[in-house]
Amino acid sequence: MTKLSVFDQFVNRHIGTNNEDQDAMLQAIGVKSLEELIDQTVPKNIRSKKALRIPAAMTEFAFLKELEQTAAKNKVFRTYIGQGYHQTITPSVLSRNIFQNPGWYTQYTPYQAEIAQGRLEALLNFQTMVSDLTGLPIANASLLDEGTAAAEAMAMFFAQRNKRSKENEFNEFFVSNKVLTATLDILHTRAEPLGIRITVGDAQKFNMNDKTFAVLLQYPGEDGAVEEYSKLVKRVKDKDGFVIAAADILSLALLTPPGEWGADAVVGNTQRFGVPMGYGGPHAAYFATKADFKRIIPGRIIGVSVDIHERPALRMALQTREQHIRREKATSNICTAQALLAIMASMYAVYHGPKGIRAIAERTHQYAQVLNKELANLGFIQKNKHFFDTLCIATTSEQKQKIKVAATKANINLFYTKDSIRVSLDETVSDNDLTDLITLFASISKKKASAKWSVSKRHSVPNSLKRQTEFLTHPVFNSYHTETKMMRYIKRLENRDLSLTHAMIPLGSCTMKLNAATQLIPVSWPAFANIHPFAPLSQTKGYQQIFKELEEYLCEITGFTACSLQPNSGAQGEYTGLMAIRAYHHNRKEKHRDIALIPSSAHGTNPASAVMAGMKVVVVKCDDEGNIVVADLKEKAEAHQDNLAALMVTYPSTHGVFETAIKEICSITHKNGGLVYMDGANMNAQVGLTSPGAIDADVCHLNLHKTFSIPHGGGGPGMGPICVNDKLAPFLPGHRLVKTGGKNATTAVSSAPWGSASILLISYAYVKMLGQQGVTDATKYAILNANYIKAELADDFPVLYTGEHDRVAHELILDLRQFKALHVSAEDVAKRLIDYGFHAPTLSFPVAGTVMIEPTESESKDELDRFCDAMKSIRKEIDEIATGDAEENNNVLTNSPHTVNLITSDEWNLPYSREKAAYPLPYLREGFKFWPYVGRVNNAHGDRTLICTCPPIEAYEEATE
Ligand SMILES: Cc1ncc(COP(=O)(O)O)c(C=O)c1O
Repeated sequence: MTKLSVFDQFVNRHIGTNNEDQDAMLQAIGVKSLEELIDQTVPKNIRSKKALRIPAAMTEFAFLKELEQTAAKNKVFRTYIGQGYHQTITPSVLSRNIFQNPGWYTQYTPYQAEIAQGRLEALLNFQTMVSDLTGLPIANASLLDEGTAAAEAMAMFFAQRNKRSKENEFNEFFVSNKVLTATLDILHTRAEPLGIRITVGDAQKFNMNDKTFAVLLQYPGEDGAVEEYSKLVKRVKDKDGFVIAAADILSLALLTPPGEWGADAVVGNTQRFGVPMGYGGPHAAYFATKADFKRIIPGRIIGVSVDIHERPALRMALQTREQHIRREKATSNICTAQALLAIMASMYAVYHGPKGIRAIAERTHQYAQVLNKELANLGFIQKNKHFFDTLCIATTSEQKQKIKVAATKANINLFYTKDSIRVSLDETVSDNDLTDLITLFASISKKKASAKWSVSKRHSVPNSLKRQTEFLTHPVFNSYHTETKMMRYIKRLENRDLSLTHAMIPLGSCTMKLNAATQLIPVSWPAFANIHPFAPLSQTKGYQQIFKELEEYLCEITGFTACSLQPNSGAQGEYTGLMAIRAYHHNRKEKHRDIALIPSSAHGTNPASAVMAGMKVVVVKCDDEGNIVVADLKEKAEAHQDNLAALMVTYPSTHGVFETAIKEICSITHKNGGLVYMDGANMNAQVGLTSPGAIDADVCHLNLHKTFSIPHGGGGPGMGPICVNDKLAPFLPGHRLVKTGGKNATTAVSSAPWGSASILLISYAYVKMLGQQGVTDATKYAILNANYIKAELADDFPVLYTGEHDRVAHELILDLRQFKALHVSAEDVAKRLIDYGFHAPTLSFPVAGTVMIEPTESESKDELDRFCDAMKSIRKEIDEIATGDAEENNNVLTNSPHTVNLITSDEWNLPYSREKAAYPLPYLREGFKFWPYVGRVNNAHGDRTLICTCPPIEAYEEATE
């Protein structure tokens, strides 16, 4: 066989350093070889003995060629299935400038607000759009999908229930029988562990009882019917209950928004605002509510504040970190959401504006009207008196069968129920499509289709539900309707944000590695993008093949036997894994096992997920080295041995260390009847060297948006598949509409059977192109880079935790607490790094007053050195305060970051030079300077007066005067 030339290998593009660099780095660390470093870092007793059974690497070219063939196994039908997913037209200006643009998709979650004003504005636009369309004042910056958004609303109101009366135990949740099938499935999943009883029925006939805390309606219903709910709302309100509406976002351009007819929360999906179906995702769900609930709304919420110069500045509001702060008291575990897709949907609204959105809704509705009329002429009975885009046609099973055969032949997908066929129209429908649909139904009717059909302007919407109020009135939705203007608006926002296109983003626990173009390109291919999640499996053979292979790779990498690709984020993976553990204990008639042991250093999502899975959290101590105190674990495991359900452990630990006692830790848990959940956020330090299976865990999630190259997209999308051993394999989640999951599958955790299926392609490409050797090399070089930074910076900053041989894993924590005496905080260092052109490392997690650095394998030695130079220079700046050469509380650190407005202002009263402020190191003059759009943002101000929709334009004008 011919040997590949070195330039053909993707691994050389993915790993940032070359042989020469690596030798110099090993020398700086003080080891002779990479193997020696790895031996000193990863404990011997957990090292993998065999190479991974993963195929050899493919070149990028070969991979794309092969993938074209796999893609051809998918069949793209015209799809009228509905059920919350629709064909849509992605404006090319958005595909090219956002979806396929690393300046947008490689951004991190906007925790560093000063270098994230672009995406913060786009997300604020999203919130404004959702708020306007739903008629409620507060909206968050996206959730994962419609089903989980509905479940979040249920949990939020359940947590509020006892405010109504201290005596009554309200635990019933009424769900309309017109709710989407997938949503109902998820509600059941989420309700059971919380002790919520779900009742399902006809909403029009529902009478509030004394136990019901809230009701959920679908608007329009799953069958397409548009109904009045005002009487029901009154009945619910009379008994102090809450009303949630799951609404179709496009329909709200024509229908009275639920906020106006009394809903307390409105949830849904914004997919049909220009985001391809992608066989299930990713898309942004939305969640809007009343001001009363602004402090408890789940997910991230963008708020308007000011910077130190009193200019308007955006940032994520307080509750953003809900699970980090409230931990087991949180009602939601949501962390990664769907930022990039929310940005896409908001830009669709910016591009089309209120007139455009209304026109799209009108057109869709009118086609539905035409179809309704023509089907009536053909003798069919359409059941919905009022509808928006979906018709429900009564059929006998014989008719249904005939239509199904004819539709399949014509490459058309419809939604079939026991006694009806549903047809959901959308903005892509053309005259020809409509003719084809009419011809299809005519083929089984005794009558002939009309030769010509006419469009009526009449609405099939009851007068009482016709939208009267304006929406998207803010100038941002009325200014950018030409492509030139839109392109420039997108660029203007992009320029405010620091992404991987500018510099390394050394975020511990987040693994901001290369998101290669070849991995991302196929996501936009129509054969992957334009497939409905509930399309028949016979049309998705390409996808099925990819899932099968990817599941095998992930199982091999984790040392487990089965995998679920359903969870849409790491936190969702945690929940899914814990639910599998719960099902396992229940199946063994050990329902009482409900204690989750969680180390104090755990990520906040861990305790939040445990509580959502019906478990009680018992915190296990960590020692000064950041390791679990084994004696404390043992004591607690033994004390709870009758009820122990699980231990949740992050490995390597959240402190960036391979704990040597890990096997003992797992064994103690097992001995006391619990199973071990391994949080896989740090898998980038394990792949090919050890595995969750090797440490004796039972289940783990993988953040594909960390280890497996899915870009972070400014706070999502992500994917959190779980891998499990044989014990848990039967309990992997299923789905009501598509067969998937284990033998005793639990109900669904996501709306789509394989979560955000289209981005699984990215991780698939990652493994295929790196191959067996490459995925392991990635781990080794990630460890090398982290230890190199440690070697370079250890003289300037204490490294908080190290392993037995004084090594760190793939990340390291620098302790900055000693500088407090000089009034310099970790935040000051983080903000000062912006002046040096860098995104801050993870701030104050897992230890307050520290920064956690994770360089990843993709960074070059030059870039690592540039970062280390910046950190060393900052150390000198701190020393200047200590020696009295710089003022306390008025120095380059405390005043950072410095904006271009400040630096170029005629007024300059600061006790240091402009050059020192803006160009502290020479490299900044060589194209590395990044100007923050605003100065240090005032968080407290924003939380005191929460504003989370676009402020009037005058607010900006006043500030610049
Ligand atoms: C250790 C750890 N666990 C869990 C999570 C949650 O993952 P996600 O944000 O994908 O929900 C994170 C996210 O940063 C993490 O760092």
